Amino acid sequence: MLEITFAKAVLPKAGVLVLPLAEGAALIGLPAMLDKSLAGALKRAMAVAGFTGKKGTQASILAPKAGLKRIILIGMGKGELSAQAAAELGGEIATACLKETEVLVLAEALTPELAAQAALGARLRAYRFDKYRTTQTEAEKTKLARLTLLVGDPAAATAAYTPLAALADGVEFTRNLVTEPANVLYPAEFAERAESLKKLGLKVEVFDKKDLEKLGFGSLLSVSWGSVREPRMVVLQWFGASGALDADGKKNKKLKDPVAFIGKGVTFDSGGISIKPAAGMEDMKWDMAGAGTVVGLMAVLAGRRAKVDAVGLVGLVENMPSGSAVRPGDVVKSYSGQTIEILNTDAEGRLVLADVLYYAQARFAPKFMVDLATLTGAIIVGLGHEYAGMFSNDDALAEKLIAAGQATGEGVWRMPLAALGEKYDKNLKSAIADMQNIGGGRAGGAITAAQFLQRFVNGKPWAHLDIAGMAWAAKDSAITPKGATGYGVRLLDRLVAKGFEG
Ligand code: BES
Ligand code: MN
Ligand code: ZN
Repeated sequence: MLEITFAKAVLPKAGVLVLPLAEGAALIGLPAMLDKSLAGALKRAMAVAGFTGKKGTQASILAPKAGLKRIILIGMGKGELSAQAAAELGGEIATACLKETEVLVLAEALTPELAAQAALGARLRAYRFDKYRTTQTEAEKTKLARLTLLVGDPAAATAAYTPLAALADGVEFTRNLVTEPANVLYPAEFAERAESLKKLGLKVEVFDKKDLEKLGFGSLLSVSWGSVREPRMVVLQWFGASGALDADGKKNKKLKDPVAFIGKGVTFDSGGISIKPAAGMEDMKWDMAGAGTVVGLMAVLAGRRAKVDAVGLVGLVENMPSGSAVRPGDVVKSYSGQTIEILNTDAEGRLVLADVLYYAQARFAPKFMVDLATLTGAIIVGLGHEYAGMFSNDDALAEKLIAAGQATGEGVWRMPLAALGEKYDKNLKSAIADMQNIGGGRAGGAITAAQFLQRFVNGKPWAHLDIAGMAWAAKDSAITPKGATGYGVRLLDRLVAKGFEG
């Protein structure tokens, strides 16, 4: 993990120095002193490289004369940085320095808040998952271990960074879960890792197969029939507003008007008897990304001591074909009491969420519910890898999510949702049960899935995020190396911080 520190801005005498510069700005203060100590070599190098501080440009010079190994100039562009732009600047800094061990950033020009955002971006971009590599050469390794930001007010920057460090911890927790292979991370193992978050002050309950049978989770359980790995549900509670102790000093047992987050946790989705084609099936180890995001988010809320009551619920199953697997045509009874004819065993995520959503609203009476799920390939066809699909029965919640998406760069795009029995919803009519788990054909597949979920929210305020296109990235980007993105943690942390705390 990349260690971040903030220190008083003085000219360093050793190491690698990063110098972020605004476009067209003259060298003043420490950069001017540095240039002077180099007898003008910095300015000459900028002129030779044509470096003007334009966003997205860099120049690098060797500076043994100043005692420094290298000076890397990074363009910040014109105008004031947004928080997101500062995080992306941090990402650029990390990218430029992945093979260095110790890096100093001359960040005097940034406010404490923006310096903290840059540190967050650097940490997220420097993430790596190397635990299964045994033959990596020195040259292949990411070495960046410590980043020191030299700022005007280190105490203020450190204070601004403290909650962001909790945010980065949560995103990394999610990325680690999503990246783990399915032979390592099956429902029981996922539940154990969620339990480790008790140390942050979360209350964590784990429901095993027997508990779920007792509750009557017939829909979720049917997905797990074919697997030797038993299912779990994990409920994580954070008493950040009401307090863990009630007024009499007794243990507080009930969340007050919590916000609720629900995640699809299919630790591997083979499709079951409706088996998927071989090509790309390995991607289905990350079919638990929704659950991974919910757990990472709860870690953030607890880690930064958010002033909110919150509950996270994740349904954990493995979807496998076998002699005991659920068959196309089987009818199961959900926790809500509604019956479902399962026509395609690969439409399993909705079967998991149906029971967890209904349970969440029945037990916790939340202000709202947001679920996250890698639910359909159809949402990738529709939106690609730029936005998660968002479906909601509540305009105010939808607008808050859109705003949080714009602020964090974790975008959501609102999709249609029809009333029960109308338009898309009527395709779920079954010949022999209350509903079937797929619509008629491929058309509007992401919407059909959302309509199915809506039948289990009991009319409560709710939004569904189909993150199938967002959970994993094929390419590096500003603050996310390729692989598990942790999408949704920053989005929902922002939703809570801006709308539901205090
Ligand atoms: N986990 C998949 C959705 C998915 C596909 C996520 C590709 C990420 C990448 C989901 O369980 C699924 O199989 N959905 C089916 C639904 C269909 C059978 C109605 C799909 O999208 O094909
Ligand atoms: Mn599936
Ligand atoms: Zn799935």
